[in-house]
Amino acid sequence: MNPVITPTIDVHLSADDLRRALERDVRTGLTSRPKQIPPVYFYDDRGSRLFDAITRLPEYYPTRAERGILETHAKDIVSASGADVLVELGAGTCDKSRLLLDAMQANGSLRRFIPLDVSNTTLWKAATTLSAEYPGLEVCAVVGDFHRHLNQLPTDGRRLFAFLGGTIGNLDPGQRRRFLTDLGAVMGPDDCLLLGTDLVKDRARLVRAYDDDAGVTAEFNRNVLLVLNRELGADFDPTRFEHVARWNEADQRIEMWLRSVEYQKIHVSDLDLELVFRSGEEMLTEISTKFTADAIRTELGDLGFDVESMWPSEGDDFLLTLARRSGTPSAISLAGGPASVCLRS
Ligand code: SAH
Ligand code: TRP
Repeated sequence: MNPVITPTIDVHLSADDLRRALERDVRTGLTSRPKQIPPVYFYDDRGSRLFDAITRLPEYYPTRAERGILETHAKDIVSASGADVLVELGAGTCDKSRLLLDAMQANGSLRRFIPLDVSNTTLWKAATTLSAEYPGLEVCAVVGDFHRHLNQLPTDGRRLFAFLGGTIGNLDPGQRRRFLTDLGAVMGPDDCLLLGTDLVKDRARLVRAYDDDAGVTAEFNRNVLLVLNRELGADFDPTRFEHVARWNEADQRIEMWLRSVEYQKIHVSDLDLELVFRSGEEMLTEISTKFTADAIRTELGDLGFDVESMWPSEGDDFLLTLARRSGTPSAISLAGGPASVCLRS
């Protein structure tokens, strides 16, 4: 029996960093039109718990669909990847990671798990639980931002980068391109990407998944206001904002908004900022883009990835895609001519 290895935690985002980013994002986002706030601030402790409750809602099919694919195909995914290190970006509670870890353990390749998330508490809890559940597994948790800290991840081993839950759909096209380009740049030729994407489907089902009867998603959406109250001394009254989930056909995405039910002034005391919401004015809090398999293949191809395999869920609700970086960087640099040596004078 392998001994339990104590997990390590690398913190690349201090409370100070988060605070500075929040100040900047609130100053820009809440003074622009339409008002908007990046989704990363949803996930404080309460937000992470509410998201976990969302994943169990009858209306919210993506988690079950993605889990279903992993239950059936984790073994194929893991053996196609050849990986001995699982890196998970935006790992959250690491619930679905277990299916990949089990498959790696079963084929004898499991060495290390590197979950990365902004949510310190959730990550630490998951890391401690997993270390105990998988004796012999090195768990190296990373508190960081997947837009900024990909190059801080340990590089040894053959890495499988899992980006699950349709989180890629929460990035706008520009952020998505930058994220995938940055990821391609840190991936070695033996590394793989496992990307989970929600697929375009009946619009009513899509909207319901983001506007459930029990109101958990509404509570999650409004939670961002409580984060602003606590962190920046704002005086939002969440009951004066309605949760709105709407399908945007042109951009093929669900959008989450908070709509002010009346004219109101909000004071953000730490920023000495006064905000005016018109009656009915909406603030954009989240987008969740839906894809087709063709669109994913094309986008990944354009950004320097080769798709190796795709696994749709039963009923084609959700898709897992395994891709590798295409091309060999050495060939690219050779094509640029002989290496030059720079001598200091
Ligand atoms: N992968 C899990 C959780 C998805 S929810 C699942 O499939 O169920 C999105 C997760 O990403 C949350 O845990 C959130 O804290 C994290 N997250 C959001 N923005 C992030 C960012 N910029 N950098 C790192 N983690 C982020
Ligand atoms: N990645 C999840 C998704 O796009 C995140 C999510 C689910 C979410 N429900 C939400 C984000 C509600 C904001 C509000 O499906």
